[in-house]
Amino acid sequence: MTAPIVRTRAALREMTRGWQRAGERIGVVPTMGALHDGHLSLVARAKEMSDRVIVTIFVNPKQFNNPEDLENYPRTEHEDARKLERFAVDTIYVPDGPQMYPDGFATTVSVDGLTDVLCGAHRPGHFDGVATVVTKLFTQTSADFAFFGEKDFQQLQVVRRMARDLDLGVEVVGCPTIREMDGLAMSSRNLLLSDQARSRAAALNEVMEEMADGLQAGRAMVDLLPDARARLAAAGFGDIDYLELRTNETLRLIQRAEAPARLFAAAWMAGVRLIDNIDVPART
Ligand code: PAJ
Repeated sequence: MTAPIVRTRAALREMTRGWQRAGERIGVVPTMGALHDGHLSLVARAKEMSDRVIVTIFVNPKQFNNPEDLENYPRTEHEDARKLERFAVDTIYVPDGPQMYPDGFATTVSVDGLTDVLCGAHRPGHFDGVATVVTKLFTQTSADFAFFGEKDFQQLQVVRRMARDLDLGVEVVGCPTIREMDGLAMSSRNLLLSDQARSRAAALNEVMEEMADGLQAGRAMVDLLPDARARLAAAGFGDIDYLELRTNETLRLIQRAEAPARLFAAAWMAGVRLIDNIDVPART
């Protein structure tokens, strides 16, 4: 059955009030649409943990630092609603721009420190846009739980910090990255790749997995990087925005697998920016 699509805060509030009165716990899955199996894995987890599930679809202009990227972002509301049918979610919340950012909107939520590095350093203003919209989505949906993918690990940590710092009363649940058969992390941006670029893109995860093996064997990033960069270039990757090992909690840059960490990468394939990260446990 198709879930009702709600487009206004008022209509959403009416629904959530009834659920809260009945003591039901609300789970929210924030998305920008163009849903794939990565998003759907969050919905499945939300269904397990919550009495009511709201999926939100909003292509948030405040988090795009490039107008062309915003323009080209896939918008597939009808197919998205169809993909959600089998999960029987309670509602799909699709606010329009003015619902989110009415005239005179003047507030920004900004998380220090965690946002200085990785995607924060390469996409000025991006995480302010994310933190601001996610704060609004949490309050508008009266969420008890919110589900985020490890695919965007820095985003997950930023949202966790923000929910704690602002006492939003939302438990943020991180969910593992869902991948294509060849290891490429699922992403709405993969749709922008030609067939050839798509098949070459798998090298990103391959190279990262090999680096993780090297780190587990006790090698340092400086020793692994030259070969990794050369292999990515040979596979057709252009600029590499970053390829770094950082601790899980504070995203501190490290050289060796000496603390629980992740290997993070952002690299350009045929004009499309792809990101990935994988777990690198501390060596014992
Ligand atoms: P979007 O890119 O649509 O992603 C929505 C959620 O799906 C995020 O939590 C993201 O980490 C998760 N996700 C994407 N690909 C995934 C994959 N392959 N495996 C597991 N989870 C995956 O992230 C955003 O939207 C926006 O920044 C948003 C949080 C909605 C704020 O606008």
